[in-house]
Amino acid sequence: MEQLPTDLKNNRILIGAPIRYGFHLRPVRQFVSRNLAELNQAHTAFFSVNLTARKPEKSTPQTNAYLRKYLEKSKFEPKKAAVFAGALNYPDYKPWDRVMIQLIMKMTNGPTDPKLTVEFTDWIAVEHFAKELTQ
Ligand SMILES: Cc1cc2nc3c(=O)[nH]c(=O)nc-3n(C[C@H](O)[C@H](O)[C@H](O)COP(=O)(O)O)c2cc1C
Repeated sequence: MEQLPTDLKNNRILIGAPIRYGFHLRPVRQFVSRNLAELNQAHTAFFSVNLTARKPEKSTPQTNAYLRKYLEKSKFEPKKAAVFAGALNYPDYKPWDRVMIQLIMKMTNGPTDPKLTVEFTDWIAVEHFAKELTQ
């Protein structure tokens, strides 16, 4: 969806994006920048999914650099924001991505076993955020 349909503007909007090599997924960034004024006026919530957030000290909108920098740079001002840790799924990655993510994991003391699949998501935190959105 490239443009925000006009009939959505008065509704609540929830946008989520995973991190790919340091940046939120490009189509989501493009969507946000194309609709920035409307999104900033609407009841918009945003969540970021990345592996850095597996560390509790990097799992809040204030402490997660990807989210903080993105909001600063884009001027996107969601009314609520959250960061969740995603999954590490080595067997599903293309060879190049697997090596790169192994490298990132090595640098950040994470698992590097290429057979490993692990879900770091704190689903209780996801539930809390979902409840917050309904209030
Ligand atoms: C190609 C690729 C690059 C990624 N780069 C990063 C990164 O730079 N930093 C990070 O914290 N997580 C990174 N991740 C992890 C994802 O943001 C996270 O695991 C998320 O759950 C994956 O979303 P998906 O369900 O769309 O695969 C990367 C994942 C993939 C597949």
